[in-house]
Amino acid sequence: MTPKQIELVQGTWKMVLPIADTAAEMFYTRLFSTDASLKPLFKGDMKAQGRKLMQMIGTAVNGLTKLDSIVPAVQDLGRRHMKYGVKDKDYDTVGGALLWTLEQGLGESFTPEVKDAWATTYGVLAKTMKDAAATVAA
Ligand code: HEM
Repeated sequence: MTPKQIELVQGTWKMVLPIADTAAEMFYTRLFSTDASLKPLFKGDMKAQGRKLMQMIGTAVNGLTKLDSIVPAVQDLGRRHMKYGVKDKDYDTVGGALLWTLEQGLGESFTPEVKDAWATTYGVLAKTMKDAAATVAA
């Protein structure tokens, strides 16, 4: 990731934070309308789940300038997701729902450059999670 991309992601995340609960709700609604088969994987309270998701994205976003320091936590997260029943292909569905949510939340600020920066960020996180899960599965 370029420093410019990191700046764009961190700057736009700050804009999403004030509407974090709403954004999380929109995200899950979108996710389940895209793939209803994912719904049974979530066992707990969706509001609490949304908060955890937003918090973890926030941690990752803040850690982009020192990626090495967050990799172990993201790998652990990936291994836990395997236990939740998450498959590799589900990462694309979640990535699509995340970008859609950011587009709704950011409106005109969701420029092609911002979209690209977020897609790259999510791609890095998803790959780290999937790679870690694959090591366990092997
Ligand atoms: C960058 C990508 C992702 C991030 C940052 C993320 C974050 C989180 C966090 C923080 C939790 C709370 C539990 C824990 O820490 O282990 C969680 C749980 C969960 N996530 Fe994710 N997640 C991501 C991708 C996905 C994907 C692709 C799916 C596929 C549907 C998914 C489905 C779930 C499920 C099913 C749970 C457990 C819910 C439960 O126990 O009721 N996540 N996620």
